[in-house]
Amino acid sequence: MTQRIRVAVAGGGIGKAHMVAYAKLTDLFDVRYICDLNDQKAREAAELIPGCSTTPDINEVLADPEVDLFDNCLPPHLHAPMSIAALEAGKHVICEKPIAGSLLDVDRMADAAARSGRQVFPVFQYRYGPGYRAAHELKTRGLLGKPYVISLETHWQRGPDYYAEPWRGTWKGELGGAIVSHACHIHNLTTHLAGDITEVAAFLDTRVNPIESEDCAAITMRTADGALVTSSLTLGAAGNTSRFRACFEHVTMTSSTEAYRIGGGDWRFEATDPARQAEIDAIVAGFSDGLERFSGMFTEIHARLNGKLDIFLPSMEEGRHSIELMAALYDSARNGRVVRLPLAADHPLHQGWLAA
Ligand SMILES: NC(=O)c1ccc[n+]([C@@H]2O[C@H](COP(=O)([O-])OP(=O)(O)OC[C@H]3O[C@@H](n4cnc5c(N)ncnc54)[C@H](O)[C@@H]3O)[C@@H](O)[C@H]2O)c1
Repeated sequence: MTQRIRVAVAGGGIGKAHMVAYAKLTDLFDVRYICDLNDQKAREAAELIPGCSTTPDINEVLADPEVDLFDNCLPPHLHAPMSIAALEAGKHVICEKPIAGSLLDVDRMADAAARSGRQVFPVFQYRYGPGYRAAHELKTRGLLGKPYVISLETHWQRGPDYYAEPWRGTWKGELGGAIVSHACHIHNLTTHLAGDITEVAAFLDTRVNPIESEDCAAITMRTADGALVTSSLTLGAAGNTSRFRACFEHVTMTSSTEAYRIGGGDWRFEATDPARQAEIDAIVAGFSDGLERFSGMFTEIHARLNGKLDIFLPSMEEGRHSIELMAALYDSARNGRVVRLPLAADHPLHQGWLAA
């Protein structure tokens, strides 16, 4: 028999979308609290789950011995400190992106997890969708071959209403700009499918909104499996689209373009050798449904915490690599150089990349 996991969600912004997912998984999760300084946001989120209490006080939920899992949906600058506090209080942690603003803080989180015997689950929900699941299955079966090039687009629209929230667009609050908040998901899909990033060269600019951090980027990268990656990013597009297109030796794949949901939707898989198209199509056809995004990820967290196998739950190592990539991109853009990863422990941005 599996146990329902007792959850406290902190932050009623994207935390409300997490609550929507928990509401579909009431046999797996028992959400006890939604915690937000803004009482109205807390109450609106609490309505999604009968019996869920509201509180503005994180210490109250951390002091409750019945809470197993702290779901950190707070603004970025609170991710590392509140996750460490939750681990020290004996809770497992789900942490929204970016999990921290430095490699130093990621390592502090990992140390706190090791000391408490609890786990940290970085949020990378894009992989939970039938399109990406099919891509991953083709890779697992050895049908993709060498990755040649991967082309990424994160072309979103963000304006004054988005930046009305005071933490956004600031170094101290958001811990960076669009490479931290918007491109991290598609970069994670890339590393999951084609290996960790080993080299980067980046141009970052602030061109769309009057903010401190970047909102446009042109990035080139190489992965451990040899893929050459280009990543184009702007928050000044007409509408919101993301796209993941990869040319492997045997298959060229193109994602759907729905922002937030590119793991789902209609992906196209074209065999390089037309004679193998039917074989590819038959495998892809097996991935037409399944739980998507947060519901998919949370289902796997429940499996992991109940000692069962998960398919590909994002690991703390992936969370760390994502932060390492951000540090490397800022180094490259600021110093006009190609940066190689992994970064040395004495790298100048090891303790963070916040600009003055
Ligand atoms: N995975 C995704 O697709 C995704 C999407 C959107 C946002 N995010 C991430 O989620 C995080 C939150 O973003 P958001 O858009 O929800 O922000 P938000 O500002 O809309 O929500 C954050 C909430 O936290 C509350 N809060 C702040 N400090 C608090 C405190 N000390 N105690 C209790 N409540 C507090 C605020 O009142 C606010 O309601 C960010 O790191 C963002 O990057 C992830």
